[in-house]
Amino acid sequence: MHTVPRKIIRIINSWSIFRHINIEQRPSSALLLSTFLQKDQISSANKMAKPISIEAWNPSGKYRVVSTKSMPGTRWIRLLTDQDCRVEVCTEKKTILSVEDILALIGEKCDGVIGQLTEDWGEVLFSALKRAGGTAFSNMAVGYNNVDVDAATKYGVAVGNTPGVLTETTAELAASLSLAAARRIVEADEFMRAGLYDGWLPHLFVGNLLKGQTVGVIGAGRIGSTYARMMIEGFKMNLIYYDLYQATRLENFVTAYGQFLQANGEQPVTWKRAATMEDVLRAADVISLHPILDKTTYHLINKERLSIMKKDAILVNCSRGPVVDEAALVEHLKVNPMFRVGLDVFEDEPYMKPGLAELKNAIVVPHIASASKWTREGMATLAALNVLGKIKGYPVWADPNRVEPFLDENSPPPAVCPSIVNAKQLGLPSSKV
Ligand SMILES: NC(=O)c1ccc[n+]([C@@H]2O[C@H](COP(=O)([O-])OP(=O)(O)OC[C@H]3O[C@@H](n4cnc5c(N)ncnc54)[C@H](O)[C@@H]3O)[C@@H](O)[C@H]2O)c1
Repeated sequence: MHTVPRKIIRIINSWSIFRHINIEQRPSSALLLSTFLQKDQISSANKMAKPISIEAWNPSGKYRVVSTKSMPGTRWIRLLTDQDCRVEVCTEKKTILSVEDILALIGEKCDGVIGQLTEDWGEVLFSALKRAGGTAFSNMAVGYNNVDVDAATKYGVAVGNTPGVLTETTAELAASLSLAAARRIVEADEFMRAGLYDGWLPHLFVGNLLKGQTVGVIGAGRIGSTYARMMIEGFKMNLIYYDLYQATRLENFVTAYGQFLQANGEQPVTWKRAATMEDVLRAADVISLHPILDKTTYHLINKERLSIMKKDAILVNCSRGPVVDEAALVEHLKVNPMFRVGLDVFEDEPYMKPGLAELKNAIVVPHIASASKWTREGMATLAALNVLGKIKGYPVWADPNRVEPFLDENSPPPAVCPSIVNAKQLGLPSSKV
């Protein structure tokens, strides 16, 4: 079993300065060097001297890979350092890095970057990455609405994402929010902690029963379909869904499960593919949003669409904040106290629209849908392998939904890029598997 190289250095530096430091002459324990970047060493656009703190692994590695954030687990670092990469992890305290911060991280020589959904990856960063000799970028996320893929393609940079590994974890949070909203768990918890409970009452925190009700899914892809199965198997809900494509596997599953229930003397579950999104909104008792964010899904849920939903419906959003017109949602929640929402994502993250935080019929959590240890470590692994694979000239994995071979800690991952979204545009070869 390999371990991650022990030698760590903390630097505040750019690659150009770093090249002149003889690391082997330094003590083997962690070092803290405090050199500051000069503006002309970052970019002519960046007029401020910008301190950037970094932790580096395998300093003598041939390929320089930068991660804009510390990521869970150490396997992703080992996979890179075992293949002759020097890995630099940004250790800046601020949560969201600016474009200027990332320009400083890229420096003058950089082969690939692992970035985050909070960062704005467009023309400026991809052109800088190309100038630094880079050909690979991976988001540590399945969604890549923060990435201008056309700009990346223009500069010959492959864009990776991390599908599959977060499907169940994200669906489980959507299911948790559905239950918490239906049974008013957060309100009841606050009531209890406030010392207000003085005995059982027939009307205390009465909520919604899910069994036999209708679950509506908008965007029945990987996560939407998995969420639908959880609600159908767990709570015997009927399904209505809307997607641009038919979710055949999901439909077949519900049909078979309905037959199984019937054979056991229970009420069968049913499914319906809606012709319009409005059909889902009118019919469903719980509606969960799982589309990608693009121009067709921006403000998909707006004032008009909220107004056709049932007055006591539950709306869950674990996709991206701008899929919902949050200001319209706040107004709707104010005048419909029986309408409840569970939100993991927000239109102007990290902020909430005015009024949302005060509403008892809203449950809000800080974008944690993919936050299980297994998933986050797996996302880091897939992101690292996307960058590594491109640097090494590996082909692209033929089925980005089948990610298990990359996640087995006990065997080396296939020599491929797990998921490159602009593989076709860049003409990258596909693996035979
Ligand atoms: N909150 C989180 O932490 C978190 C975690 C993971 C994923 N996500 C979000 O979830 C999204 C979905 O992930 P996935 O892996 O299921 O992706 P996916 O590509 O498998 O599914 C997306 C589905 O949305 C459908 N769709 C696209 N445009 C639509 C439209 N206009 N109307 C209806 N359906 C439409 C697609 O056809 C597809 O079936 C990601 O893009 C990401 O933004 C959020």
